[in-house]
Amino acid sequence: MNANNDAYLRPDQHTLLASDVIAGLSQPAKTLPCKWFYDVAGSELFEQITETPEYYLTRVETRLLLDLTSRLADYVPHLTLIIEPGSGSSNKTRMLLSSQPNLLEYMPMDISAGFLYASAVKLEQDFPHLKVTPIVCDFTALTEPLSIDKTHECLIFFPGSTIGNFDPEEARHLLKNIRAMAGRPCWLLIGVDMTQDAARLLAAYNDKAGITDKFNKNILARINRELGANFDLEKFQHRAIFNRDEHRIEMHLVSTKAQTVELAGNQFKFEAGEFIHTENSYKYPKAKFESLLHDAGWLIDHVWEDTDESHFGVFLLRSAG
Ligand code: AVJ
Repeated sequence: MNANNDAYLRPDQHTLLASDVIAGLSQPAKTLPCKWFYDVAGSELFEQITETPEYYLTRVETRLLLDLTSRLADYVPHLTLIIEPGSGSSNKTRMLLSSQPNLLEYMPMDISAGFLYASAVKLEQDFPHLKVTPIVCDFTALTEPLSIDKTHECLIFFPGSTIGNFDPEEARHLLKNIRAMAGRPCWLLIGVDMTQDAARLLAAYNDKAGITDKFNKNILARINRELGANFDLEKFQHRAIFNRDEHRIEMHLVSTKAQTVELAGNQFKFEAGEFIHTENSYKYPKAKFESLLHDAGWLIDHVWEDTDESHFGVFLLRSAG
């Protein structure tokens, strides 16, 4: 993912941020939605995470994608349109865009307007024959099918194990919605981390250079910047744990002392040791993910899988029915 530009943050997004933050911090077990990590600074920090030696996900998936791009046309020979929910910088997509012979159009979708448009401009320069149609939206909140030319053969690209940010119920729902989004039979190419090795996982979410720490705390900095809150970043600590029963990494921000934070006339009290749950990153065992796909109406066509460095899969799926 990559940086957006706050100047482009539309007023309705701003209101959504405020209501999400107030709702999350008002619960007995405080939470913040992880989608709000990705402002300019957060998107840049995420890019830096993907370059740390511990964060294997991007490296492994990129390797799988390199192998896959040369063969995708064997499976989907007439592919003309790629849609990407949560496209960010579209870095991984470039590999796909340059390797599919019949491709006509690319639709990147992102919650971050500024960088979405900036990367769309760059893509148009680099792929002059491609029509690039950026769509600013929260893809989890799409209610109507996109308007897509009837002649298109369409593939939805959802890499990065972004699906892991949703709990299984939400993920099933989202995967159904993604089918509906195309409004016709289509393909889905989705990357998912299935690693269960706790040591590997904990290292990836507690990198030695401390970038994940900064990434996690940036959500508080953002809330300060955009909503005028007074979080003291020195009084919160990054923590990542592996919740084995739920098959997920959890990121927390732990309050190091009793404190009160003010935000738009609201006061939020923290006890020492109390934490904000900022992210879940689900690591589905393969069979679980397969049954989730099945329940959401997707048929598996092919899987590219890494089992050396980690357990990561890129699934090529067809919509059922
Ligand atoms: C972009 C959601 C896939 O869960 O691994 C990276 C975000 N959080 N380090 C992930 C993230 C902490 C990342 N995803």
